[in-house]
Amino acid sequence: MKIAIVTGGSNGIGRATALELGKRGISVILTYNSYKERAEAVVKELEKNEGVRAIALKLDLTQLSTFDGFVQEVKTSLNQIWSRTTFDYLVNNGGVGGPMMLADMSEEYFDKILNTNFKGPVFLTQHLIRFMNDAGAIVNTTSSSKNQSFPGYSVYGSLKAAFSSWTRYIAKELAPRKIRVNAVSPGPTHSNFGDGAFDKHPEFIRPLAEQTAFGRIGQPDDLAKVIVSLLSDDFGWVTAQDIEVSGGHLL
Ligand SMILES: NC(=O)c1ccc[n+]([C@@H]2O[C@H](COP(=O)([O-])OP(=O)(O)OC[C@H]3O[C@@H](n4cnc5c(N)ncnc54)[C@H](OP(=O)(O)O)[C@@H]3O)[C@@H](O)[C@H]2O)c1
Repeated sequence: MKIAIVTGGSNGIGRATALELGKRGISVILTYNSYKERAEAVVKELEKNEGVRAIALKLDLTQLSTFDGFVQEVKTSLNQIWSRTTFDYLVNNGGVGGPMMLADMSEEYFDKILNTNFKGPVFLTQHLIRFMNDAGAIVNTTSSSKNQSFPGYSVYGSLKAAFSSWTRYIAKELAPRKIRVNAVSPGPTHSNFGDGAFDKHPEFIRPLAEQTAFGRIGQPDDLAKVIVSLLSDDFGWVTAQDIEVSGGHLL
């Protein structure tokens, strides 16, 4: 029996990933930041529909001082629910976006994007790999924006590029333990990103769909299937890769 930790499992791509893991019989520890009730609904769905055990824990990736407490909660849950001291897979998915032009940029904005999308996942991974099984796997969620230059996304895109590069470095560091580290780069995806930007502004969708070879934007499931496949032994000979999952955005 395998156990996965998925950050940002309350919404969007992380939620879909948690459900896809459940379909494949993998137990899930998912985290939420603001939406506890949505996270608990994912846990209920996993337990009722997929018959796997799951729990939801609060994690704010910007609050590094809380990571020791989070790790303690994970260890207690592993012990009490699964009679285990280790877990198998980590999906570093939680993140925030939102554009800001350089001329208007505040340090607060910069730090939020930095801490959530890069610094937080780096130090969280440092904490968690201490009790991750050898031959496990990690998938990081970066972004196709790392290779683009849409105005307003300079910091977000640059930090996703950093996260992508970090994926390669850590793949090498963890290779002696046979832990594979890969990434997915979503293109525009209809999640809750931007606190529901695509639901609040459906007019944003069409232009992005028109830029996409397959004529639509992504759905969380499109990403979840790739993330869970990358974790699986089918990709046992693949490490240090960042795969764009965008249906051909700007192809
Ligand atoms: N959607 C896109 O078009 C797109 C494109 C490229 C890359 N991505 C990347 O895909 C990943 C998943 O995003 P999504 O599209 O699924 O968006 P989403 O629906 O908004 O989900 C984001 C998840 O991250 C969590 N999160 C937000 N701030 C956090 C924090 N400070 N600490 C810990 N968790 C936090 C959220 O938790 P709560 O909801 O509970 O607050 C939520 O579960 C992100 O890394 C994002 O950068 C998305």
